[in-house]
Amino acid sequence: MPSARIFYDADADLSLLDGKNIVFLGFGKQGSAQAQNLRDTGIPNEQITIANVKDSFADEARAKGFNVEHDFSKAAEIADVLFILIPDQVQPGVFNNKFFPKMKDTAVIVVASGYNVFFNLLKFKPQQDVVMVAPRMIGSSVRSLYQKGRGFPCFISVEQDGTGNGLPIALALSRGIGATKAGAIASSAREETAMDLFAEQALWPNIIMMFREAFNVLKEAGCSDEALCYEMWMSKEPAEIFERAADDGFIAQLKHHSTISQYGQLSGSLKLEGTSTREHFKDILYNQVLNGKFCKAFSLIEEDLEKEGAENPLNELYRRSEETELAQAEKRVRARLAELL
Ligand code: NAI
Repeated sequence: MPSARIFYDADADLSLLDGKNIVFLGFGKQGSAQAQNLRDTGIPNEQITIANVKDSFADEARAKGFNVEHDFSKAAEIADVLFILIPDQVQPGVFNNKFFPKMKDTAVIVVASGYNVFFNLLKFKPQQDVVMVAPRMIGSSVRSLYQKGRGFPCFISVEQDGTGNGLPIALALSRGIGATKAGAIASSAREETAMDLFAEQALWPNIIMMFREAFNVLKEAGCSDEALCYEMWMSKEPAEIFERAADDGFIAQLKHHSTISQYGQLSGSLKLEGTSTREHFKDILYNQVLNGKFCKAFSLIEEDLEKEGAENPLNELYRRSEETELAQAEKRVRARLAELL
């Protein structure tokens, strides 16, 4: 696999946005950050519209001086560019029913996550450009880093090049929201979705399970709840380790630890072959993520949730997870926090 191309400000021509009506569907975490960045880059306020249902996000957009449109048909008709920045699970319903039928044949549609595009859950006309500009940052950081004159990591791709001008326009939009300042990495909806869902369904579940079982074993060996919670995460040591991994290197950060710790971690991890984990990970990636099995199951859950009186399955998952010894012990420790600190 060749190295990914990285695009910078110099690769982008902002003049491609001259006179274009740019609509943001959603003014939440990403929408508010990206719309404000775009305006601060110099795109006139008159060219920017926030399409939003009547809620506190719409009030916030208005308070920040944006033109807010509640009628989605009108917003769809004027959009030369549409950023879809509402939660992924509601995008197909809102976009396909309210925007798709009214949009210009050559409009540019921008997503910040590959999920709905990769799984073909959104409808597009053949001449439309569909691009992904996906910040790898929470919305508040997309805004604060821009304000500090710094960039943020971002993935960019052209998923449908209807006009033949998809890449230059994607780059102009990326520069507008501040995404090419630190370098936007060429990616794809497939790559972004695979990595995101894999992390959520394979990597982090294993990490949660490891912490849960480590807790059980050490507790059985006589360690106290208080000592375990602080040792394992409440001291914020794991957060610090990952911060150092980002700054110094995944392995190089180990040099900040004691010699005994370095020896234990390096020899221990090399002893674990990981063969069965690799097979388990491949199974999740190919037979659950990339083949659309999870996507189908999740869409059914979403449909069920629309039924009256339906209970969100997340409630049950939280209930069972809170029953684990780790969670119960943490609850007890947190109740004593004032005593401890
Ligand atoms: P959010 O949860 O902050 O979205 C809130 C906005 O969606 C509000 O404007 C609200 O009025 C609107 N909204 C919610 N439900 C709606 C409905 N049923 N109909 C119409 N409007 C509705 O969304 P967020 O987190 O900014 O995500 C937007 C996109 O950005 C998603 O595709 C997400 O994957 C992507 N993304 C999010 C990141 C994050 O850190 N939150 C990071 C990178 C990408």
